Amino acid sequence: MRQSVQAFVSRRSLLRLASLCLLTLSGSASLAQIAPRSVTAIPPAQSFLGRNGMVVAQESRAARIGVTILDRGGNAVDAAVAVGFALAVTYPRAGNLGGGGFMLIHLASGRDAAIDYRETAPAAATASMFLDARGNPDQTKLRDSGLSVGVPGTVAGLALALAKYGSGRFTLADLLAPAIALAKDGFAVEDDLADSLPAEKGRLARWPSTKAIFFVGDDPLREGDRLIQNDLADTLRAVAERGPAAFYAGPIAERIAAAAREAGGIMTADDLANYRAIERAPLRGTYRGYDVISMPPPSSGGLCLIEMLNILEGYDLAKLGPSADAFHRIIEAMRRAYADRAFFLGDPDKVPVPVADLAAKEHAARLRAQIGAHATPSIAILPGRRQTGEGRNTTHFSVIDRDGNAVSNTYTLNFSYGLGLVAPGTGVLLNNELDDFTAKPGAANAYGLVGFDKNLPAPDKRPLSSMTPTIVLKNGTPFLITGSPGGSRIISAVLQVIVNVIDFRMPLGRAVTAPRLHQQWEPDAVYVEPGFAPALLDALRARGHVIVATEPHTAANSILVTPDGYLGVADRRTRGSLAAGY
Ligand code: DON
Repeated sequence: MRQSVQAFVSRRSLLRLASLCLLTLSGSASLAQIAPRSVTAIPPAQSFLGRNGMVVAQESRAARIGVTILDRGGNAVDAAVAVGFALAVTYPRAGNLGGGGFMLIHLASGRDAAIDYRETAPAAATASMFLDARGNPDQTKLRDSGLSVGVPGTVAGLALALAKYGSGRFTLADLLAPAIALAKDGFAVEDDLADSLPAEKGRLARWPSTKAIFFVGDDPLREGDRLIQNDLADTLRAVAERGPAAFYAGPIAERIAAAAREAGGIMTADDLANYRAIERAPLRGTYRGYDVISMPPPSSGGLCLIEMLNILEGYDLAKLGPSADAFHRIIEAMRRAYADRAFFLGDPDKVPVPVADLAAKEHAARLRAQIGAHATPSIAILPGRRQTGEGRNTTHFSVIDRDGNAVSNTYTLNFSYGLGLVAPGTGVLLNNELDDFTAKPGAANAYGLVGFDKNLPAPDKRPLSSMTPTIVLKNGTPFLITGSPGGSRIISAVLQVIVNVIDFRMPLGRAVTAPRLHQQWEPDAVYVEPGFAPALLDALRARGHVIVATEPHTAANSILVTPDGYLGVADRRTRGSLAAGY
């Protein structure tokens, strides 16, 4: 595998990468817009032990709605669908109807399912759609125009999950009812919503339809103000009455497509009519006797995670403990898996993706053999230099019910509030997900992730994602349910939660709050959250790692199944996450 990578990297691509570097750096202004506020320490997690069921989500009202559904006899999928719709109202920067994501399901019967409701490129998409007149990536087209809007998948995805894996005790309308009430009656702005609205003021204020909902005059709603979303309530009600068809055909679809087009896009109502959520076979790996179930492409998350775990399985991390020796190996595993991501991954329905090869233990063994005592320069693996972006604008929730059915769901609008544009008359915030495509081979997206030909835009294609909803099984039953927002940092965050629990034997609360580090092949740097011991960082520097301080960007809302019950841990890297159980 590695040989084919090296053969792939010609002198020409080296030069192309070097010249594209300048472009990426010049696009970094928009990165600042998605960086969160300054955080100097990781806040303590909130946890709850539930005997019968548990929901851990990034917003407390939505989490409680999920628990109510469980308490009324719903299964984990019913609850997840209710939480997904509720977050579209209560956590509008990432919860959504106008975006997409991935739901991983483990049923107590032993069956696993992966629902891919990732956005698609419109039928009129072309490989060069994000280039400027000189053939270079155009950051405005990629992130700040209607061209960046993918055909939304969330309504189709949640409806498919319910139809196939719900308990049958709740209709879609039943599960939409709490979201409709919250949208119509409104609720007090608080927690992360109160933090994110002013942080995104500039991007939101560009669109009158958005200002009309989230602003009073020229200022965003403030802590304690009431957020009422009447158009969104009507849209949700239409879906409750007529099913997903109400969203994907007729006036709502027409308004969404028109809003994207008026903002410079190419989406048509037919694109919405043709959207399908897809059920895929989940990706399965093993780690020290546990089964790891995660998301297959078009997310890179599961494959990168399994590749990193396969590499690390060859080391006695438990003996090393959370030391420089252990983190050096973890970093080197990340570097190699993210390099493979860049070259080999894309939408499996459009390009060949060597899933089995990359997930194989033999591939990991070859990569492990390259890891020495010192950092491998990324340029020695594959060439390139990129600036990393940041973000925690996605949202992850984990659910388990009394029978042991489990759901791990991550969905997003990409940036905080997506494009920032509410399609007029619908209340639906539109995503800017198509920035996850590679605008040009060797170019990086907002998260600094470099890509090549496999992830170029094409009609109906799904951009490569990093979302990593994951369920770890022990003896065939759920042990750990986890996932996170955080752009490129999602995969490394999920890895570290798993390693912290399985290898470092940390209680879940510590496993979630422990500072995390991140390496993504390019740029050749290790991003470290606050809280690592200076001596450990010095030891990593001595091994040749370039250490860069970073603020927290992830939020791994997780559940551990313990002999005493379900232990939910809400990651408070953002305000307002809640583990709620019963
Ligand atoms: O699918 C992806 O990988 C990204 N669009 C996710 C974006 C994200 O996580 C933003 N911040 N949390």
